[in-house]
Amino acid sequence: MQVLTGKEIRQKFIKFFEEKGHTHVASSSLVPYNDPTLLFSNAGMNQFKDVFLGLEKRNYTRATTSQKCVRAGGKHNDLDTVGRTARHHTFFEMLGNFSFGDYFKHESLAWSWEFLTSPEWVGLEPELLYPSVYEHDDEAYDIWINEIGVPKERVVKLGKSDNFWEHGSGPCGPCSEIYYDRGVEKGCGKPDCAPGCDCDRFMEVWNNVFSQFNNDGEGNYTDLVQKNIDTGMGLERLACVSQCVDSLFDVDTVMNITNKVSEITGATYGKSHKMDVSLRVITDHIRSATFMIGDGILPSNEGRGYVLRRLLRRDARHGKLLGVNEPFLYKVCDMVIHENKGAYPDLADKQDYITRVIKVEEENFAKTIDTGLRILNELVDSHKSKGETMFSGEDAFKLYDTYGFPLDLTQDILEEQGMTVDEAAFTKLMEEQKERARAARGDMSNAWQGLDLGLDNTPTAFTGYDHEEDGGTI
Ligand code: SER
Repeated sequence: MQVLTGKEIRQKFIKFFEEKGHTHVASSSLVPYNDPTLLFSNAGMNQFKDVFLGLEKRNYTRATTSQKCVRAGGKHNDLDTVGRTARHHTFFEMLGNFSFGDYFKHESLAWSWEFLTSPEWVGLEPELLYPSVYEHDDEAYDIWINEIGVPKERVVKLGKSDNFWEHGSGPCGPCSEIYYDRGVEKGCGKPDCAPGCDCDRFMEVWNNVFSQFNNDGEGNYTDLVQKNIDTGMGLERLACVSQCVDSLFDVDTVMNITNKVSEITGATYGKSHKMDVSLRVITDHIRSATFMIGDGILPSNEGRGYVLRRLLRRDARHGKLLGVNEPFLYKVCDMVIHENKGAYPDLADKQDYITRVIKVEEENFAKTIDTGLRILNELVDSHKSKGETMFSGEDAFKLYDTYGFPLDLTQDILEEQGMTVDEAAFTKLMEEQKERARAARGDMSNAWQGLDLGLDNTPTAFTGYDHEEDGGTI
């Protein structure tokens, strides 16, 4: 096996598929274009949804990409798990090869195997690779065993939850993943630990999706007009395997960012679990935040902007845990840009802007974080002295509303104290506040009536359905 840097893996992957007739297409923005079902781009296939569905034609039928992805929250990636496992990041790069009604299972599986095992490309030991197939997909099972020559005992059949890829509505299908066995010492030790187990032993490095159905979002599947291939290979995961390191956080491009955090905070990686979690959380979240701001997202109290705010505030708090009492994330973001500007040159163009946004957000939160933390600690003590393990929704809401503590930040801190929040009460207060804000907005709009502001009242035509860019006068 060769030791490959993240950059080398990206270059090799794209070259391999270009040689197989694929067009190299740029990553799409983290803000999905014309897709209200997604908060962030979270897979290479997002930008090709309409091509898979046959609604859009391109001048190529094979494509390869290195796609920026964010999975922050929900089924795919709870923020809580980040930093605590070897294989969860909120930001990652997904390398992919795609066929739009062109090649299908035979080529896709053979090429994934060739890329991973050939000494010319990645050169992983074939005997440590375990393909999995959807339990009813005899065709893929047969290809692995009879065409590619993988011994039967290493091909595993898994059910729908593991081996059928879908994300809400849209193109989907059975998939065949490839797991790398990182050794029994990385495992959970359970007797049934095997590919598909949730522990860190068998790391999934490749997913071949046979995208042949459309899910209408209600769980009804119809055949697509064409059979497609949608593959995804996590760049950092393969780097982790190739570099023989413990976790995604130890791969070269990510470690350089952690080193920068260490340099600023004085915390040494690998000294204590608690410190490592903080270093990893900061590293992970600042990568996401830098890319998000680069793609035009700003911290706010809603939607994407709120996810960004939560990430930055969680980072600020972990900075505190490491003893940093002033804004520092804006300095780390320079390193994120340095590590990624080769593949994403626009990050360098926007460096000043991204830095400024992060610094302003840090400064704003710095005004309230200390008071908020003090109050939170007092409340925890008071609850504990009464033997209570449930933190009230009112208190959590006060921390949110007055001190800018997102709920998951409060929950994170409470979890360390063995406490939970009354989420139902919190949500109710949140809804009431939104209702008040809506009512206040109604009053405000009435207040404008009858005023002549001398504005041009020509309605603005929305052209976003047909154009990604357009001109206008403000
Ligand atoms: N869409 C699949 C995934 O995200 C393969 O790219 O895993």
